[in-house]
Amino acid sequence: MRILIAEDCPVTRRYLLALVQKWGHEVILTKDGGEAYEVLMRETDISMAILDWEMPEMVGPEICEALQKSGRVVYSILLTGREDAADIAYALNKGASDYVCKPCNPIVLRARVDAGIRLVDMQEEMARMQKLESLGRLSAGLAHEINTPLQYIFTNLGFLEESFADLARVLEAATACIECDPSQITQSIESLRESAEAADLQFLTGEIPGAIAQTLSGVREVSAIVDTMRGFSDLGDGVAKPADVNRAIEEASTLAFLEWKTNGAVEFDLAADLPNSVCSHANLFQALVHLLTNASHAVESACRDREGHTGRIQVSSKDCGELIEIAIDDNGTGMAADVRSRIFDPFFTTKEVGSGKGQGLCYVRRVATECGGSIDVESQVGVGTTFRLRVPRQAA
Ligand SMILES: Nc1ncnc2c1ncn2[C@@H]1O[C@H](COP(=O)(O)OP(=O)(O)OP(=O)(O)O)[C@@H](O)[C@H]1O
Ligand SMILES: [Mg+2]
Repeated sequence: MRILIAEDCPVTRRYLLALVQKWGHEVILTKDGGEAYEVLMRETDISMAILDWEMPEMVGPEICEALQKSGRVVYSILLTGREDAADIAYALNKGASDYVCKPCNPIVLRARVDAGIRLVDMQEEMARMQKLESLGRLSAGLAHEINTPLQYIFTNLGFLEESFADLARVLEAATACIECDPSQITQSIESLRESAEAADLQFLTGEIPGAIAQTLSGVREVSAIVDTMRGFSDLGDGVAKPADVNRAIEEASTLAFLEWKTNGAVEFDLAADLPNSVCSHANLFQALVHLLTNASHAVESACRDREGHTGRIQVSSKDCGELIEIAIDDNGTGMAADVRSRIFDPFFTTKEVGSGKGQGLCYVRRVATECGGSIDVESQVGVGTTFRLRVPRQAA
């Protein structure tokens, strides 16, 4: 694991470096609180930090508080000479994950680091499971979407097969007519007329073009769904590709609105020629799935509560210079101030046990801050909610 150590005393710093390296971890060494905070915000693959309490620029609890406010999740162990219960409670309340009293007992520090690693591993495993869950829901939903066009492609092809057999009989009679002995012509024409009547040529010439057009449109539909699925393939491979914002919106909508259709309309107003975002495609996709799913749940529950309510979700993207803004506006339940103030907290949910884990918005905020963007919300009970996610554009 990559572990950051922030310690202003050179002797302790070297001692901690030697210890943590001996335990098999990669160490990023910093000399003061300001540098530690800056490195932690920049290098998002550092999951653990050992922070001295007293340091120039920023003290340990201040770093924990700033990290927590920004949504950056780091397991932070504070090193402190303070053993007072009030001080320890203060540090933990500021966002520290654990503390070790100075002078550092290496056995205790190692046990605390190992306990932290177990927790970090568990969190990463949970994030992986969430991705797999998304992919699972996605495949099930898309299989369902593909089924409808496939059904009418089958029906139409069956009709075309039968029609062709009828037409082949007419063609056979026509060929016999052309090739027959002149003395047999009357009989041949009679036989051609009979097979033409049996085939009901008028019906066939009226229906076949429609069946072909509908089959082609079904094939196009399937091909569009397959294209969308191809876009999801980078979800699981862990390689960060910069996000095509509008494509991420379209793909996330396909997934989030699979079960929505009956609740109302979804409207899109996507800016043309948007630059890519530095945010990775997979992360932006996942964040948008959370925002759009939340909006659809809020509208669904407003439709349940208010008879005659017609749901509406508007999704827009626009170029704001350095940042690209994605707005998701719904006319769902809206949120009271006390709910709104807690929605980004991990595990905060107002949904029933089993239907909400309170992970969505915490993840969205982490994605936004890690790429240098932001997330804002406006909401009013009974009116609706607007989330604005801003992500930095990729340099030209
Ligand atoms: N568009 C919205 N309208 C109304 N309330 C919302 C909206 N989006 C989020 N919320 C509120 O914020 C809470 C937290 O959302 P979050 O996405 O973090 O978790 P969740 O949806 O409850 O569970 P999870 O996303 O983990 O399945 C929700 O339970 C809900 O109360
Ligand atoms: Mg959610």
